[in-house]
Amino acid sequence: MPPKLIIHGGAGKRPSVKKQREIQKALEEVLKGAYPVLLEKGALEVVVCAVVMLEDNPLFNAGTGSRLQSDGRARLTASLMEGHRQRFSAVVNIERVKNPIRVARLLQGERFTVLAGREATAFARAKGFRPYNPITKESLAEWKKRCGGIGPGPAGFRAGTVGAVAIDSKGDIASATSTGGVGCETPGRVSDVASPCGTYANGLVGVSCSGRGEDIVNAALAVRVATRVTDGMGLKEAMKLALRELGAIGGKAGMIALDREGQAMCLCNTEFMSYAVK
Ligand code: GLY
Repeated sequence: MPPKLIIHGGAGKRPSVKKQREIQKALEEVLKGAYPVLLEKGALEVVVCAVVMLEDNPLFNAGTGSRLQSDGRARLTASLMEGHRQRFSAVVNIERVKNPIRVARLLQGERFTVLAGREATAFARAKGFRPYNPITKESLAEWKKRCGGIGPGPAGFRAGTVGAVAIDSKGDIASATSTGGVGCETPGRVSDVASPCGTYANGLVGVSCSGRGEDIVNAALAVRVATRVTDGMGLKEAMKLALRELGAIGGKAGMIALDREGQAMCLCNTEFMSYAVK
């Protein structure tokens, strides 16, 4: 089984051609930088590594440069699932942490694997994660424009959540996703990324989603695809059917997925979704 890594930079409205090129270049660089980790350390570590690199790039809506909630605060959510042990971990609405996915990685080894809010931040501090301000000049300006700086703003969405799915030479599969949310949302709103609806992996398939979190949760999107593949449906067919069903309830999203045969795929019912695969 040749190892494989697929990453995404979010589903949403189609950006300008210039922006698309910028996004694609960034994704290719992450792929190039992260791929050796897949060979050396396996699927779990490479999805973390790829998502860290994407969180560090303010082009994407995750980590540095994340969108802000309606009160002007960045609350970040990241999740990770290890397919072999079928273990999901996540931090939800964590604040002032540079790489939320690293905290989710740490939670893989804990008894309680999903932490939210102030307690998630306190856990990260106790584990040595230094305070870090992920708000950039651009994300602040965007918040001022979209939310007017007061109260809840429009519930739009854009490309920019990031994710990765990998299979290593042992056949182990892992998935990871990280997001700043939709922007201008009610403070404390919980993203799909906080649950297996947005990030899922088992021994046969891994999925990472992007799009309107509420839609992804309503469709249980990642789990829906994984269950169908586990029950014998082909990956592409399972993804297409899940998106059709999502569309039937008015949902908009996209996903990357990879199966045990090494098929890697990206599908969406949004205008655009960026991805790269190696
Ligand atoms: N899919 C990202 C979010 O809705 O928060």
